[in-house]
Amino acid sequence: MQNPIKDLLGKFVSNLLRKKNPDEFLEQSAKGGLKKTLNAFDLIILGISAIIGAGIFVMIGSAVIGTTERVGAGPALVISIAIVAVACIFPALCYAEFASMIPVSGSAYIYTFATMGEFAAWMMGWVLMLEYAIGTIAVASSWTGYLIKLFEGFPFLPEIMRNPPAWLINDYQTAVQTNPDLVVPTFLGIPICFNMPAMFIITIIALILLKGMQESANFAKIMVFVKVAVIGLFIAVGAFYVRPENWTPFAPFGVKGILMGAFAIFYAYIGFDAISTAAEETKNPQKNLPIGLIGSLLICSAIYALVTIVLTGMTPMGQIDLKAPIAAAMGAVGQDWYAGIISIGALAGLTSVLLVLQYGTSRILYAMARDGFLPPIMKKVHPKFQTPWVITIISTVLMLLGSLFINMQVAAELAIFGTFTSFVIVCIGILILRKTEPDRPRPFKVPCCPWFPIIGIVFCSGLMFVALREVKTSAFLFPLWLVIGIAIYFMYGYHSNRKQLALNVEKVEQVEEKEVTNK
Ligand code: ALA
Repeated sequence: MQNPIKDLLGKFVSNLLRKKNPDEFLEQSAKGGLKKTLNAFDLIILGISAIIGAGIFVMIGSAVIGTTERVGAGPALVISIAIVAVACIFPALCYAEFASMIPVSGSAYIYTFATMGEFAAWMMGWVLMLEYAIGTIAVASSWTGYLIKLFEGFPFLPEIMRNPPAWLINDYQTAVQTNPDLVVPTFLGIPICFNMPAMFIITIIALILLKGMQESANFAKIMVFVKVAVIGLFIAVGAFYVRPENWTPFAPFGVKGILMGAFAIFYAYIGFDAISTAAEETKNPQKNLPIGLIGSLLICSAIYALVTIVLTGMTPMGQIDLKAPIAAAMGAVGQDWYAGIISIGALAGLTSVLLVLQYGTSRILYAMARDGFLPPIMKKVHPKFQTPWVITIISTVLMLLGSLFINMQVAAELAIFGTFTSFVIVCIGILILRKTEPDRPRPFKVPCCPWFPIIGIVFCSGLMFVALREVKTSAFLFPLWLVIGIAIYFMYGYHSNRKQLALNVEKVEQVEEKEVTNK
């Protein structure tokens, strides 16, 4: 006898686990109409754009000396960087295998759909929004900091630009934290705080992205050139001021310090996986994606290591600045002129990071809209620019709203958790697909499978575990974000997916009927 409840439950579970065949994504993307313009060099630029930003210009200071909540690595940060590079290289290889097999827009979200099914895919997309959309808010806040620092150096600028009121350059929480006696304007009793520069740069980047990817790639190239030149100059000039005695003690807080340094500097690596979101717009993706992913990771790790060696060699540990460590190090050796140049380099760096993060946000959401997780209007591609314009505008408005409320530190930590989670899931996905579809052509294969993906899982979840015990607010908000994601899926995504599938079946039946009639 049939048991209706059991049947219903079985159907429900099989819906949640419904996988999408990678061929379906390829077919869908062929119809999508995004332009294929990016080559391996463009992808490396995209990677460097995403990686080198607030991590190297701001976080390196606290990664070396620590904060009130966590200890720092000291000069041993160079070992922390090696740990993070290792933690990232294994997921990067897994991304490369996936992206070469399924070169479509959407990154880890798509890979999860192909290996773990519908519900996991939605959750992955939702978690990726922490990395990309919430990450955008964190980086835009750092952008404001450097802009004001740059303005301070120009006495001819109006006072409001050199010394703006706190409510015009911060979210409410940060404004009040900075100055507890602060009086902010209110509207209907609601305190009004805008991070104006952050909102401005998010909007400008959205406009550039709306125009098209080739334009964005050209813009990114200029930004990357500026920031790499500034960092190169720091290494070249700073090397003359290195005093080897500053490297002792090498690891003042031992293994714990090195691990917490790795956690802090992980922020600098956020976004390199964005390369895989560009798969659909890449020429010859099978070859170019692995080169882009691994190439940019190695180049940036080498740059980070050199900056760390020079910075810790130039400045005694106790004197490293937390807000602008590189600029301050040059100031401390009498090269004040360099602070302005560093600010320009940092602004360029942060702008290019924003470009990649906002690009990733729109492309992942576009892929999710195409799969029926979001209302159909969101998958519209602009007829002239061939960019997903509706989702770009909607996500930009949401990020602008988010920048009013979310604190920069919390946003950065949430972005780190989102990134750790996506790396772990991508490594697991490779293990699953190797089992379920061993014969699928893999233009690029992770070497030493299953060991390399397993090492990636162990490194990333280990670092996440260490971090979870140290940070309080984001350790609470991260699970909350997941719960909200689950609620949205069951309120909208689950049902709209069923509707979309039913519609597809109907269409196929109509085509078959027509064929029979024609015969
Ligand atoms: N990796 C990016 C940065 O350092 C998030 O700004």
